[in-house]
Amino acid sequence: MDQRSKAASTSRSPPRVADEHVVVLDFGSQYAQLIARRVREQHVYCEIVRHDISPAALRARKPRGIILSGGPSSVYEAGAPHCDPEIFRLGVPVLGICYGMQLACEALGGKVSSAPTREYGRARISITAHDGLFAGLPDHTEVWMSHGDQVASVSSDFVPLARTCTCPIAAVRHNSLPVFGLQFHPEVTHTPLGSTVLRNFLIDICGCRGAWRLGDFARETIEEIRATVGDARVICGLSGGVDSSVTAALLYQAIGSQLSCILVDNGLLRKNEREGIAHEFGDHFKTDLHIVDAEDVFLAALDGITEPQEKRRRIGHAFIDCFKVEAQKIKGVEFLAQGTLYPDVIESGAAPDGPAATIKLHHNVGGLPAELGFKLIEPLRDLFKDEVRRLGLELGVPEEIVWRHPFPGPGLAVRCLGAITKDRLNVLREADAIVVEEIKSAGLYRQTAQAFAVLLPVSSVGVMGDARTFDNVVAVRCVDTTDFMTADWTHLPYELLGRISTRIINEVKGVNRVAYDISSKPPATIEWE
Ligand code: XMP
Repeated sequence: MDQRSKAASTSRSPPRVADEHVVVLDFGSQYAQLIARRVREQHVYCEIVRHDISPAALRARKPRGIILSGGPSSVYEAGAPHCDPEIFRLGVPVLGICYGMQLACEALGGKVSSAPTREYGRARISITAHDGLFAGLPDHTEVWMSHGDQVASVSSDFVPLARTCTCPIAAVRHNSLPVFGLQFHPEVTHTPLGSTVLRNFLIDICGCRGAWRLGDFARETIEEIRATVGDARVICGLSGGVDSSVTAALLYQAIGSQLSCILVDNGLLRKNEREGIAHEFGDHFKTDLHIVDAEDVFLAALDGITEPQEKRRRIGHAFIDCFKVEAQKIKGVEFLAQGTLYPDVIESGAAPDGPAATIKLHHNVGGLPAELGFKLIEPLRDLFKDEVRRLGLELGVPEEIVWRHPFPGPGLAVRCLGAITKDRLNVLREADAIVVEEIKSAGLYRQTAQAFAVLLPVSSVGVMGDARTFDNVVAVRCVDTTDFMTADWTHLPYELLGRISTRIINEVKGVNRVAYDISSKPPATIEWE
């Protein structure tokens, strides 16, 4: 069994909260994950599955409701993704959103065509039926539309529920089957009453109680870990990030002294990171913490390397080697715990029922090779990042760690452009600490998704105390994003930028210039590499 199939076998499929969950069939929508998160916000457990899941597989999962996501295709195009129409006759309520609505209407006798006027962005709907999906909504409300096609006509089996001035059938329900459709997106915040519509579907139409709670998740996961692990030993790699910290905290609560944590100090960590981890997982959670001093190994592996992919490759290999050596020193290890999250699983197309499209190959999944010979435990693989943070707080992981900005596995190496040396890393580490410290003092750390310094591979001329300098340039990067797939540069106040620049130039020896990165992603990326 390879590592991936082991991982899949330790995850829940069908989910353990099977008495009350909803599934989203993913037709390639950029919003499929958002739909699942919004459903979970209503305290109904939700998972994303492939759009071509068979009716039998779906029936076996016993979902309370089925949501068909949007998607980029046109239902009438050759090769457009479809679901088995039998799904509409399972007796389980179905809500089609955008493409999902078009698919449902087409499958049940309607006609979909290219709209005379495309609708992208805000629109105003007039609601004509105020029960069911639209219970409690006013006659008119704002919604977010994003479609080129629309349902042109429906059979008499359907009742239109709402319209906009350019989209006469903006929402529908079937007369005899529990099938509903929304042309707009209730899951995005630009549809202010979208959560009411989703709640109406989940609670009133699907009959969910809305009883799913993270606390229950933690308790059930702890039980499950105990049952899986027995009296064996588990190792968990720590990186200082949220995901590995919450994984370790969860395991610690489940199996206490049977957990060993390994921190590979690769010399590429942020300032005080090693000390912070030692304090948290050695002193606070008293885990059996092993810190591997591997700075020299990594610096030797990176010596003379400037090509970013080659840096990553070498760091990856060095990490595995160091981890393996340390792991072999610990007796009785049977399991390796990893902080893989739900988006990592679905984005990598690795979930047993994940959407077909591989959006982005993530770094966390399958990070350590099968040859290590351990069985994988991935207790967070059903959670989104915000849920992991809330879980971390429930488990007593300090806010400082829970709200920490993400940090790439290869560490400062991806932010030290050009040659990597101990001196250059020190310059970067000090500059980075100032960026974070100033953003925290300005009270903006929680509002920004990521903030850090980058050391550029160029020197620039400056003048300091009447003398000419030829020193390093540091770029400051700060972005706003929730999904890290797209990001905007943060409009930090000028005064704050000024303080960051002055402090870096004054306090970090070897830097005479600071620049602020004002590129969005795309076309830039968050890291510079
Ligand atoms: P990019 O640069 O692709 O980054 O826009 C998107 C997000 O991914 C993080 N990142 C990584 N995380 N291992 C990780 O765990 C990595 O190798 C890695 N590379 C980038 C990056 O910090 C940002 O949050």
